[in-house]
Amino acid sequence: MNTTVKMDAPFARSLLDDAPRPIVGTPQGRVDGPRKVSGQARYAAEHFPDGLAHGVLLRAPVGKGRVTRFDAAAAEAMPGVLSVVTDPRLIRNGGDFAGAAAPVQGVEEIAYFGQPIGIVVAESFEQARAAALAVTIACEAQDGVFDMMAALETAEPPTDDIFGLFLIHTEQGDVDAAMHAAAATVDAVWTTPSQSHAAMEPHAAVAMWEGDRLTLDASYQSPVTSRDQLATVLGIAADKVRIRSPFVGGGFGGKLGLMPEAAAAAIAAQQIGRPVKIAMPRQTVFETTGRRPATHQRVRLGADQNGRLTAIAHETITDQLAGEVFFEPAGIATHLLYAGDNRMVDHKVVRVNKLLAVSMRAPGEAAGQLALECAIDELAERLELDPVELRLRNEPARHPELDIPFSSRALADCLRIGADRFGWASRNEVPGGMRDGEWLVGHGMAASARGNLFGPSNARVAIGADGRVLIETEMTDIGTGTYTVLSQIAADLLGVPIERIDVRLGDTDAPRSAGSGGSWGAATAGSAVYAACSKLRAILANSAGVPVESATLAEGMLVAGDVRRPLAKLVGDGLVAQGSVAPGASNERFSQAAYGAHFCEVRVHAVTGETRVARWNSVFAAGRILNTKTATSQAIGGVVFGIGAALTEELVHDARNGKLVNRDLGEYHVPAHADIPAIDVLFLDERDHAANPLMVKGVGELGTCGSGAALANAIYNATRIRVRDFPITLDKLLPNLPDPAH
Ligand code: MOS
Repeated sequence: MNTTVKMDAPFARSLLDDAPRPIVGTPQGRVDGPRKVSGQARYAAEHFPDGLAHGVLLRAPVGKGRVTRFDAAAAEAMPGVLSVVTDPRLIRNGGDFAGAAAPVQGVEEIAYFGQPIGIVVAESFEQARAAALAVTIACEAQDGVFDMMAALETAEPPTDDIFGLFLIHTEQGDVDAAMHAAAATVDAVWTTPSQSHAAMEPHAAVAMWEGDRLTLDASYQSPVTSRDQLATVLGIAADKVRIRSPFVGGGFGGKLGLMPEAAAAAIAAQQIGRPVKIAMPRQTVFETTGRRPATHQRVRLGADQNGRLTAIAHETITDQLAGEVFFEPAGIATHLLYAGDNRMVDHKVVRVNKLLAVSMRAPGEAAGQLALECAIDELAERLELDPVELRLRNEPARHPELDIPFSSRALADCLRIGADRFGWASRNEVPGGMRDGEWLVGHGMAASARGNLFGPSNARVAIGADGRVLIETEMTDIGTGTYTVLSQIAADLLGVPIERIDVRLGDTDAPRSAGSGGSWGAATAGSAVYAACSKLRAILANSAGVPVESATLAEGMLVAGDVRRPLAKLVGDGLVAQGSVAPGASNERFSQAAYGAHFCEVRVHAVTGETRVARWNSVFAAGRILNTKTATSQAIGGVVFGIGAALTEELVHDARNGKLVNRDLGEYHVPAHADIPAIDVLFLDERDHAANPLMVKGVGELGTCGSGAALANAIYNATRIRVRDFPITLDKLLPNLPDPAH
């Protein structure tokens, strides 16, 4: 039995608000936690089928060119070597918005340094790795484009708007005229570098063929999307491929689309007739999966004397391989964050010979708000206005470009409450004016916004004769808490304790979901579980002979007036229902986004330029919060991502060939524990009636949006130095630090 919920109109009421003793909205520990800490949660690389062989990728030694000689004779003679595979189906990359389209292929043509061009398969990983070093690969190197900043004049509009989501170019009014007439203006360029997702779990795939059917244990955020891409690459029907990703050790977008290890394992396993594992070493993950693209962003702002914005223009340029659809939509939040009559947002792409650019946590907003929210801070300074007040004065009543209402928008509350929690009123108001010994102390803030996305999703929920509940969906848990929040939803809707609920995730044989991406996971998979549970409630009420509206389900009982029936009696031999959700008019009629505000204190060493983050408060409004513990964890992780972007994270490409210079966690600097202070996170109590029947919005990426800008603004406040070239490493501060003698 299937039941579909369509987002055609706002939901007046959610069944979640009727639960007598709700556990939705409370802090719940992860239901999968015990399996993880006891090593029973098996990740992709931890599968060892009988006859398993190991593959190592051979990779291009030039940044652009052609393979002219490939000699594997010596390698093939080495101990344990089973095969050296070159196959035109070996992909250079997956692309994450490619849908089921075939990822770009290439073995002879090299598009970037490190591109996979072959696979060495051996009895052991060590034998494969040793043999890989013995393969002779000769290439004819060609001139490539390895530096976006040196090729800005080649920037062109993206080829596709990717589902119409990103609004490549919008324009209204006359920005130039408004800039001329403005009382205060900002016109500057911000740049952000390539970054790596740096998920804890490296990419891995174990491929097994049975006849013409392939099973792949892999680590993907959206197994169905990856399955369809893999089937296209292999030239077989999608229903011949099964991908299982029950546990994913972090993704952040790096596991959203098919990556080279999956196609390589499948091709090699087919060739040798045995299961093959390809577990990427960390450096291979850095060099062959994906990166957040670099950006060049010009922001122009104009305001009248009262701090009302009259002009907003955000022109962005990012870099990407030729032929790829994805681009960094860095202007995406600029469409809706502030009021202002004269506006322009533009996106262009420079085609480069660098590792594939893909989505990375808050694609668009994360990089875009590093520029926009710093520009707003600069404007506030020119207007001699509190940056919180400037933002409050420019709160739009409706979407300023589309002229549609916001579904829910509590940015102003986030700003006011955040300022209060942080003690913004007693901040250092004079840039460079506060000092504690050798430390310059500064305070900064920024707003946060992340679009709320939705996609079709399905889930199956069964109640067994024993009263246990089983939830099945292809949806994944990438560390976000999916297992837990889906359990909570079913627990409240079916009146069953959370301990009696089992969840199976990450299998393409289960009902198709929207996967984990774009912060839409809880909303989509959760709504599908909601739909299935509503159906089950109707069946149960019918069996009890009562109207479903009058029935309450709690503690394994259905109660309606005088009627009290144990669930176990009503389910008989067991019940099952499938729930589906689909986008509808509500997604078009309302501008849906989650909002927040960050406030922080930094200390910059007056002699060394070292920046320490001292204090942090963030306030978010993202609709109903399903689990305050896992959501807070997401928010903190997001802020840490923003701190990394502001201070340390930068992929360095060799300007001669695009090769990644810092391709491991020793040289690519993500923040460590000692870099991060206690981060205070508050979620406001909000319901988004237009978003979905749960009334939730996404939280996974929200913390990343604006947080880096808050930090950059605090560094300015401490030092009087505006660094617009991220990350703000100490070499960029040192030349302009105040003389320590004074
Ligand atoms: Mo996300 S960057 O859609 O995993």
